Amino acid sequence: MFPTTLLTALLLALFVAAKPIVQVRDSPVTLPLSRRVNITSAQNLYQHDLNRVKAMKARAKVVLGDELTLEEAAIVNEPVDNQAVTYIASVGVGSPATTYQLLSGTGSSNTWVGAGRAYVRTSTSQQTGNSVAVSYGSGSFSGNEFTDTVTLASLSIPGQSIGVATRSSGFEGTDGILGIGPVDLTRGTLSPAVNSLIPTVTDNLFSSGRITSNEIGISFEPTNTIEVENGELTWGGTDSSKFTGAINFTPRTSTSPSSLFWGINQSVRYGSTNILGTTAGIVDTGTTLLLLASNAITLYQRATGAVLDNNTGLLRLTPAQFANLQSLFFTTNGVTYELTANAQIWPRALNSAIGGNANSVYLIVGDIGTPSGEGFDFVNGYAFLERFYSVFDSANGSVGFATTPFTTATTN
Ligand SMILES: *[C@@H]1O[C@H](CO)[C@@H](O)[C@H](O)[C@H]1NC(C)=O
Ligand SMILES: *[C@@H]1O[C@H](CO)[C@@H](O)[C@H](O)[C@H]1NC(C)=O
Ligand SMILES: *[C@@H]1O[C@H](CO)[C@@H](O)[C@H](O)[C@H]1NC(C)=O
Ligand SMILES: *[C@@H]1O[C@H](CO)[C@@H](O)[C@H](O)[C@H]1NC(C)=O
Repeated sequence: MFPTTLLTALLLALFVAAKPIVQVRDSPVTLPLSRRVNITSAQNLYQHDLNRVKAMKARAKVVLGDELTLEEAAIVNEPVDNQAVTYIASVGVGSPATTYQLLSGTGSSNTWVGAGRAYVRTSTSQQTGNSVAVSYGSGSFSGNEFTDTVTLASLSIPGQSIGVATRSSGFEGTDGILGIGPVDLTRGTLSPAVNSLIPTVTDNLFSSGRITSNEIGISFEPTNTIEVENGELTWGGTDSSKFTGAINFTPRTSTSPSSLFWGINQSVRYGSTNILGTTAGIVDTGTTLLLLASNAITLYQRATGAVLDNNTGLLRLTPAQFANLQSLFFTTNGVTYELTANAQIWPRALNSAIGGNANSVYLIVGDIGTPSGEGFDFVNGYAFLERFYSVFDSANGSVGFATTPFTTATTN
């Protein structure tokens, strides 16, 4: 446990101001994303990610209209605790705009406010009479649908559908969500019109001509401090200062339930050993780790010598095993992305923040909890996305990756 003064200092360090907005020539809208690590939650990093996966699978069933098992219904209906690692964007709503600090992620698509700061109605606010409700791995919200002007950096989106929470749980320290997942995930969230989709902020920016392509580019950077780190979210283009070389695209997978998310087909190799044949999974900014099907993890453990660490829930290596750790290779649509040994470990300077031992090496590669063949066999979470620039193209139905100046950095 932390001495109180250290804990206070660390908590204070979490709320460093976001860096100024950078306007990029080939992109009309760029928003900075601030990373927050919740230290009290971080000791259950793996369990948080696992809960999130279960909730995403259950949400997919709701969207698909499939019947839930009792266990799944419990996941959907019961609020789960806070996320350990979150990304926050400042978003304006109304005119004059009230600024809300919204969690931003590709795993959800509804935009809503009112968890922390209460919704402020202005002349642009219109209540539709519909209600809206969403469950997440990290909590849930329910409330009323409004249309209002949403402002992202310099751009305003009039008439954007937003949820205004009357009840929410698991969103302490934030005001709601800025949903940047595919529009498919909004199905089943509105009532009484349960089958309708709610156009996302990205959809409306595109349909109103404010951005010229219906895509999002996301940049994260690895960090070895507990402080806020800045990511960047770009609508309608990409920020060429954030990646190196070409962006390679892969079509969204047709395999359910990954097809509802930013899902792709991918295979995984450790050194020269194939550990996961081509299968479907998702890319998700809201998952901290890189999760693989259980059978792939068994092979990965056998090859690396990693053991499960009881304190952190993560796989653990000795320094000698780490010295021999080979790269993991992710192949999608014929292009291979190399995740170096350094990129496979939790930043050692932050071991104690997750309940770990300073002399051990913890892997950010974890078990998704089910064998491959379920249509949801991996999650390329933040641990992957801090090493590769990612592009989510709704018009095209594709996901793109590019290398960055940090792909092979030895930060950790
Ligand atoms: C951090 O997580 C704990 C436990 O889940 C929660 O009680 C607390 O409200 C969270 N703090 C913030 C700032 O999110
Ligand atoms: C659409 O996706 C394809 C591959 O799926 C890619 O080659 C192309 O560049 C993408 N187009 C745009 C406008 O992003
Ligand atoms: C992905 O894999 C599935 C299952 O093998 C296959 O049906 C599909 O054509 C592949 N490609 C895409 C884009 O879904
Ligand atoms: C984890 O805990 C179990 C039982 O509590 C114990 O049998 C096992 O040896 C522990 N494993 C490690 C790696 O510490």
